[in-house]
Amino acid sequence: MARNHPVVRRLTSLITDFGPISVEDFIAISLGDPEGGYYATQDPFGAAGDFTTSPEISQMFGEMIGAWCADSWERLGAPEPFALIELGPGRGTLMADALRALNTVPACRAAARIHMVETSPTLRASQQSAIADTDATWHLTIPEPSGMPAIFIANEFFDALPIRQFVKSEGRWRERRVDIDSETGMFKFTLGKSSPQSRHADHLITEALDGDILEESDAVRSIVDTIAEYIAAVGGAAIFIDYGHPYSAVGETLQALRGHKPVSPLKAPGTADLTAHVNFEQVAAAAAAHGIRSWGPIGQGAFLERIGIRERAKRLRQGANELQAHDIDASLTRLIGPAEMGTLFKVLALSKQGTEPPAGFGPGP
Ligand SMILES: C[S@@+](CC[C@H](N)C(=O)[O-])C[C@H]1O[C@@H](n2cnc3c(N)ncnc32)[C@H](O)[C@@H]1O
Repeated sequence: MARNHPVVRRLTSLITDFGPISVEDFIAISLGDPEGGYYATQDPFGAAGDFTTSPEISQMFGEMIGAWCADSWERLGAPEPFALIELGPGRGTLMADALRALNTVPACRAAARIHMVETSPTLRASQQSAIADTDATWHLTIPEPSGMPAIFIANEFFDALPIRQFVKSEGRWRERRVDIDSETGMFKFTLGKSSPQSRHADHLITEALDGDILEESDAVRSIVDTIAEYIAAVGGAAIFIDYGHPYSAVGETLQALRGHKPVSPLKAPGTADLTAHVNFEQVAAAAAAHGIRSWGPIGQGAFLERIGIRERAKRLRQGANELQAHDIDASLTRLIGPAEMGTLFKVLALSKQGTEPPAGFGPGP
């Protein structure tokens, strides 16, 4: 741990002045601190970075999401204009590929007003060059509905939001906090007082055993609240793709990655990616509280196959040389293979009550 890293200095002075901080604050500062936060200061993607994501693996991913958005737009009654809002767009690759797919439905492309919600100045600059020929608007938070329906896209966004952790200890729940070890000067976990709030996890709260950990994310709940309120007020749809579990469960999922390898979450604040599995039951419950229907989650592999990724791969192969064809096959396997991203990654969609299932979620293709 580099003690003079701006994030380590800020965490140390906070804990020294005010006492142990929540895991939520530790994550928020490690990732988002404007001076040295992980996302605020670097581009973490690709072979030279810490991890890769589906849009960075193949253009097919963003194209399929673009096709899904065009189909959802038609199901919404082809509103003109409508907002296409991406949360946490990384390098902007997904949106660039999705817009290419939208171009095949010219009325939809013409009606789309592009909004990118991004807190990292470094990644915002990458996004601006990825979609340089597009009239897009950037925001730090989800824009207010301006009367137009919206389609929301979030790929690997919720897993980057802070979580709180609670530990059952001697029959009571206590919130996990981060302190400084007086002997080593390193960060260490300790226990505070608060209990978990999740109403959707009542049975877990009472049935858990000593030592069990429960995670919940106020940040995820608040963003889903905003999206669901938006859709309830003016209409729209949403698609969330992330890794996580369909139901609430006890267990720790917080992890840190640096250079594609796991490291201890407390050892590398500001220099490693911190993520936690998304609790899709919490997402669905937050949407339902606003009367919004959720679909899925289903595996990313099943979803992409249902909306036609194999046909897209076949078409791309037709114009490809041998090496390119091999790359197309390899990336298809990474995106949909059950041992790769096909099962662990899940897709959940939102729509108003009483609507038909969105593409990929119904009984047919
Ligand atoms: C794991 S990356 C995923 C990037 C991209 N969606 C992809 O699939 O390649 C998380 C993204 O969310 C952004 N981000 C993290 N916290 C955010 C927040 N609170 N509001 C907006 N963007 C945020 C990061 O800067 C980054 O662009």
